[in-house]
Amino acid sequence: MRIISRGEAEKYGTTLLKHPQPRTGTGLSSCTLFDFRSIEVWRGDCIFTPCMNITTQDLSQRTVREIALAAPQSTRIFEQYKIDYCCGGRRPLAEACERAGVDVEEVYRSLSEAFDAPIPDEAAEKLPLSQLVDHILAKHHVFAAAELERLTPLMDKVVKKHGEMHPELYQLQTAFGDLKASLLPHMQKEERVLFPYIQKLYATHPPQGAVPEANFGTVQNPIRMMMTEHDSDGELLARMNRLTNGYSPPEGACPSFAALYYGLTELERDLHRHIHLENNVLFPAAAELEWSGKFESA
Ligand SMILES: [Fe+2]
Ligand SMILES: [Fe+2]
Repeated sequence: MRIISRGEAEKYGTTLLKHPQPRTGTGLSSCTLFDFRSIEVWRGDCIFTPCMNITTQDLSQRTVREIALAAPQSTRIFEQYKIDYCCGGRRPLAEACERAGVDVEEVYRSLSEAFDAPIPDEAAEKLPLSQLVDHILAKHHVFAAAELERLTPLMDKVVKKHGEMHPELYQLQTAFGDLKASLLPHMQKEERVLFPYIQKLYATHPPQGAVPEANFGTVQNPIRMMMTEHDSDGELLARMNRLTNGYSPPEGACPSFAALYYGLTELERDLHRHIHLENNVLFPAAAELEWSGKFESA
């Protein structure tokens, strides 16, 4: 594994790989981890150095804390297996698995899968309308709902532990709570009312039939409401980003603090993509479909 200093990282500048989502290599016996010390230069964008493959045995000798800091997506796996990656994170992974009473090979497998998770589908804009709805539901709604729930206790923990030293965390917690209170019912409205109507609209599009009846009049009405809610959620996201200086953890942040900010960065990125797909692709296409159906069936 190649370890670089902060000075060396700065010297390389843009030649370093910048990964919006840190990724590692493949295979249970040859997991690639990113240089865990280079996390020190992470400020907003993750800057990791590519490094040589390390074996499963190497991974088992890394402490849980090192892995959590090097690859924050691993913290989801640690939470799933109830492996303490924060205060008790200075234990080697193998020992931590033993203490948690979980099979070490199973944890390796889960970590490998998390490291190799596919990058987000960048071609969703080209999907047929019906598949685009399915894609938004399966990818973005599931992710947002799960992350809002997962990050809530993590936020509470970090605020309780570090709120006194970092009072901006109290405002962050309030904004996050407002976002959660807005987003969950927003997604339910889409899932129960708007999206089923768009699916029906797509299925009955002329020449098969006329525009389906709806108790909200035109599809533009719920679309307008959803877009207004997107705007206010976007303001909350921008506020959270400002409060945390682009989700930059303070010097010497503990793994929970870093994991929270990493989780919020991912949530923000996913929501921006989610809202883009709805505002700029799905909603205009649905409005056009309704308009052309009305026009053609008139
Ligand atoms: Fe949505
Ligand atoms: Fe939405």
